[in-house]
Amino acid sequence: HRGPGGHRPPRGLDFAPVAPNTEDRIVAPAGYRTDVVIRWGDPVLPGAPAFDFDNQTPESAAAQFGFNNDFCGLVPLRRDQWLMVSNHEYSSEPFMFKGYSASAPTEEQVRIAWANHGMSVVVVERDRRSGALKAKVDRHYNRRITATSEFEVSGPVAGHDLLKTTADPSGRKVLGTLNNCAGGVTPWGTILSGEENFNQYFANGNKVTDPVVKARLARYGLVGGASGRKWENFDDRFDLSKEPNEANRFGWIVEIDPYEPDAKPVKHTALGRFKHEGANVHVARDGRVVAYMGDDERFDYIYKFVSKERVRPGNSRWARAHNKKLLTEGTLYVAKFTGDSPAAEIDGSGKLPADGQFDGVGHWIPLASGRKSFVEGMSAEEVYTFTRLAADKVGATKMDRPEDVEANPRDGRVYAALTNNTDRGKPGKEGPTEINPRNGNRHGHVLEWEEHRGDNTATTFRWRLLLVCGDPAASDTYFGGYDKSQVSPISCPDNLAFDKHGNLWISTDGNALGSNDGIFATATTGRERGHLKQFLTVPNGAEACGPVIEEDFVLVSVQHPGEIDGASADNPASHWPDGGATQPRPSVAVVWKPGRAIGS
Ligand code: FEO
Ligand code: CA
Ligand code: CA
Ligand code: CA
Repeated sequence: HRGPGGHRPPRGLDFAPVAPNTEDRIVAPAGYRTDVVIRWGDPVLPGAPAFDFDNQTPESAAAQFGFNNDFCGLVPLRRDQWLMVSNHEYSSEPFMFKGYSASAPTEEQVRIAWANHGMSVVVVERDRRSGALKAKVDRHYNRRITATSEFEVSGPVAGHDLLKTTADPSGRKVLGTLNNCAGGVTPWGTILSGEENFNQYFANGNKVTDPVVKARLARYGLVGGASGRKWENFDDRFDLSKEPNEANRFGWIVEIDPYEPDAKPVKHTALGRFKHEGANVHVARDGRVVAYMGDDERFDYIYKFVSKERVRPGNSRWARAHNKKLLTEGTLYVAKFTGDSPAAEIDGSGKLPADGQFDGVGHWIPLASGRKSFVEGMSAEEVYTFTRLAADKVGATKMDRPEDVEANPRDGRVYAALTNNTDRGKPGKEGPTEINPRNGNRHGHVLEWEEHRGDNTATTFRWRLLLVCGDPAASDTYFGGYDKSQVSPISCPDNLAFDKHGNLWISTDGNALGSNDGIFATATTGRERGHLKQFLTVPNGAEACGPVIEEDFVLVSVQHPGEIDGASADNPASHWPDGGATQPRPSVAVVWKPGRAIGS
């Protein structure tokens, strides 16, 4: 598979690209195998019953793999064994229950939904003969975290009045984590997970009358009456007219330690509160850690957190205990991007400006550091809790749905997936800027920057767009300057990952080109920069999440297979992974090439 110049593909990317398709299966390159690692409802805890779609209970669900697995993180355990941590972002009741009534869910159904949220920790083991990976029911490590598991609040807002509720006058103990979307694996072997669209769980924001509280709720989309899932019918904490602070307890980054099953999961308030897609940690040259984060909403922001303390090397108990405190204190910044081309050349069409690049400079605006606020009229606690309002005040750059933000471990350059923003340029909405250059941006783009002098704690940087996604034949797309006749079409980049060679892997959410979602990869440096190739596609209606790129296998988290308009459990649009007439089941799948490394 030689490139157009006749040179060899970069290390780890020697595979024949998968063509766009709408097949109800995982399509991988020729020579690769695929298998399912674990499915919705498969046993996680000892004693869990086998999944029975027609006889679900809250108790069985709390011991089984949850619904709609999103981010997937992997840490090594023993030879051919890993701990896999999956986010269960949300429940889709019409696909979980036949005959579901959205206006009147039963308490049983609501409790099943609570148990299907949260996270799973599962031991996965490789079969040495076949190379396939399978989940194991492990008594020691396996764990379920649900919408009712107890979390400890850490950092500057822990114990603050803004987090106190009737059930928790301490403001330090939160039940559950919700809408865990993307995440990251820390250098100390814990998992970070972002609480994203938590607003959808809370009802009756429209009944709140206090103008200050109302404005805060509004900025987070907490303005409706009854919620979609009606959880407020069964627990007052989901009713904002009764518990206005409960929503302040969601929207954080949570950290869980898969190696210590008894360690309580933590919500880190120092990383701010917004619709956290996820957080990815990079160790800066001086040993401080930098967490990069996106707020996945149209016209919202990119953030970074720089720790006060430095990382301790190794994984002794002592070092890990120290490192697990790194995200409790530091400085929270929001990004401001400036283009270098004349505004007249950025006309919303996506046509490159005369200098041939969408590029420019930027800086990080500090919002708060420890207990000190840099935002006029807001205390530090308010900045961390209502971070969107703080970022609005300082004039941060409104982005096209910032999702994963992650540094390349090889060179520290940072990448952000900007999924799309069909509202860009609409009447009353912000128009194009060099960093978000397309009006009605349907296909999204991928941003790259390097911090000043390669120091990830720096407060200035240079940026450029690596990919302007869509149909390569269209004039409004750009693939790092690479020959567009040689690249795969891509739409709606969402999750990012790097392989050990430093290649960038991208998964998509909501392909607007008509093909199923999938996973793509490109080199970020050298002659093959921008030579994007599709590695796989996922089944009908599914989103490709997670990707984990190991040397000899790839994990893909197949979220919401069959969830297309008009479909439901009564009328399934996918039968993946079990085939026949079965219901679709969100699952983690593995892709590998027997006897070879990925991309070789
Ligand atoms: Fe849950 Fe931003 O995707
Ligand atoms: Ca996502
Ligand atoms: Ca430019
Ligand atoms: Ca998504």
